[in-house]
Formats: sequence, C-alpha cells, structure tokens
Amino acid sequence: MCIRDRTNDELAAQVDTSDEWIVQRTGIRKRHFAGKDEKTSDLAIHAARAALESAGLRGTDIDLIVLATATPDQTFPATATRVQAALGMENGIAFDVQAVCSGFIYALAVADNFVRVGQAKNALVIGAETFSRILDWEDRTTSVLFGDGAGAVVLSAEAGEGTSADHGVLTTHLHSDGRHHDLLYVDGGVSSTRTVGHVRMAGREVFKHAVVRLAEVVDEALEATGLDAADIDWLVPHQANKRIIDAMAKKLDLDIARVVMTVDQHANTSAASVPLALDVAVRDGRIRPGHLVLMEAMGGGFTWASALVRW
Ligand code: ACO
Repeated sequence: MCIRDRTNDELAAQVDTSDEWIVQRTGIRKRHFAGKDEKTSDLAIHAARAALESAGLRGTDIDLIVLATATPDQTFPATATRVQAALGMENGIAFDVQAVCSGFIYALAVADNFVRVGQAKNALVIGAETFSRILDWEDRTTSVLFGDGAGAVVLSAEAGEGTSADHGVLTTHLHSDGRHHDLLYVDGGVSSTRTVGHVRMAGREVFKHAVVRLAEVVDEALEATGLDAADIDWLVPHQANKRIIDAMAKKLDLDIARVVMTVDQHANTSAASVPLALDVAVRDGRIRPGHLVLMEAMGGGFTWASALVRW
C-alpha cells in the first residue's frame, strides 16, 4: 500500500490553517491519504485480508460481505464485489451500505441480522473510505478534518444463551433523520450534478446534534441489554473530533483511559473510523476476549447508531 501520512503542518503549507488550530479544535495531528492510483477497494481488500488472517479463515469461508462506504470506486457495481472477487469468494453475496460516518455500525447491524436469521455463517464487515477524493482544498473548514483508511471485522454464527454474557453483537440501534440533509453533504452526485462533488458541512451545527444524538443512542444500547455504563470495558467511538469523544466519556462517567482514541492519528475516516480504532486496540492488546465494547457514530443524513459487542 502506498497510503501516506500527512501532518497538520504539511496541510498548513497548502491551506490557511495551523497545527495549533487543528489540534485545539479537533485533536487531529495527522491523517493518511491513499496513493494516486489507490482505490477504496484496495484499502478494503487490505483490511479484509488482515481480518481473515486474525479470524483464521479464508475468503472461501465467507458467505457475506457488507462494505460501508460513501466513497465507492465507481457509481456501480458495489465496491464490495471488488473485494469479493479479490478474496476468491465465488459464492455468497457482497453489497455496499451508505450511511457515511455511521456506515460501519449500519453494516455491522445488517450483517448481524443476516447471521441471526441463518442467511450467513461468516460475514465480513468492512468500513473503507477515500475521503481525500471529495475534499475541497479551498475550504479550510472541512479539508483538514478527514483522512483515508479501511478496517474490517469477521462475524461468525455461534450459538449463545441469549444473555449479555454471550459473545458477539449484543444489540444495535440505528437512526436517521433526513431533515438535516443540508448540514452535512456532498455537493455533487450522479443524478443531480453528474459530478463527484465536495464535502460541505455546517460544523458547529453538526457538533451540537452529535453530542445529543450520540448520548441518546448509547443509552438505548445500555437499556436494551440491561447493562450499565460501568460495565463497559471500552468505548470505541466514531473518530471525528476529540471534543465530541471527551463529551461522550464524561456523559458515561467513563475514565478516558477506557476510550479508544485514534482521531489524532487518522482524523475522520468516516465509515472506516470505528473499525480502524478497533483494530488498533485489539492489536495493542487493550480489547481482549470477553470485553464489553460500545461503539457509536454519527454522520451525514443525519444518521447515527450504536452497537454493544462482547468481544
Ligand atoms: N484553520 C483555522 N481556522 C479555521 C479553520 C481551519 N482549518 N476552520 C475554521 N476556522 C475558523 C473559522 O473561520 C472561525 O473563525 P471566525 O470565528 O473568525 O469566524 C473559527 O475558526 C471557528 O470556527 P467554528 O466552525 O466555530 O469552529 P468549531 O470550534 O465549531 O470547530 C469543527 C469546527 C472542528 C468542524 C467542529 O465544529 C466539528 O468537529 N464539528 C463536527 C464534525 C463531525 O462530528 N462530523 C460528524 C460526521 S462527519 C461525516 O458524516 C462525513
């Protein structure tokens, strides 16, 4: 992969901004950008292979791929089908889900439901984005916030007791409210402008909604399982802004040491942000089997979602 680091200082050479402003307002220190010829599917395939290796499975063992992205390789077919072909998966199904920054949790919920009804045994859930392709370098209010990346998990069918001690996805909660479409969107598209467009965001407004909606959707997950914030081993939030993450930790009365924070390293990678953060915390040994992991995210639409998972 030729994915490259880009520090705040490097951006400041190009955009009217500073490392100080970006760190203070967002917590972001750097982000990664895909190489010129690298596509979302290339990042997704890389993440998918790493997830398969961790799970001790091969591509042929997978019967479902749900890939969350707002930055697909092409308008169609689904980027997930590229991943399917690359993994040598001849059976099963692969499709994309579009919920912008909430995309990974939406994809996880979709895959979980397929597994629960017996329509899939081993599902790959991927979040992959190349937001660098839709940034407007004339707009300092958005261009400094995003990065590229991909992360993936494997979800396998396993009999449980139906209690919160079971392994796997315990509960998912998805929401959307299209009335807020114009606060966070891309100003282009196939059937409107016939262009790809650029990210547009009313940052302050999005921030206010995010803090309220995320708090609500986290409560829903806890109520649905009869668990308490004190039971959470790790909060793995969408990595958009350190201030939003800090507010969530405070709301849950959770020690910040139990929050997985990668926004400083990755910036906002939209649907890739939660699985990238998961990957970091699993590989460095923080998240271990049996741990209770709470994920939450909010994105364009608006969409927002939470998932409680027993690792
Ligand atoms: N560098 C320097 N100054 C800047 C920059 C920049 N990159 N961007 C904006 N400013 C200036 C503004 O012009 C403004 O100046 P003014 O006061 O003279 O007008 C000042 O900084 C403050 O701007 P605000 O927009 O009020 O800054 P705020 O503290 O709200 O931070 C931010 C902006 C980081 C965007 C914040 O609002 C945020 O994180 N919002 C939520 C983003 C989010 O959660 N998105 C979720 C999902 S994303 C998805 O779905 C794709």
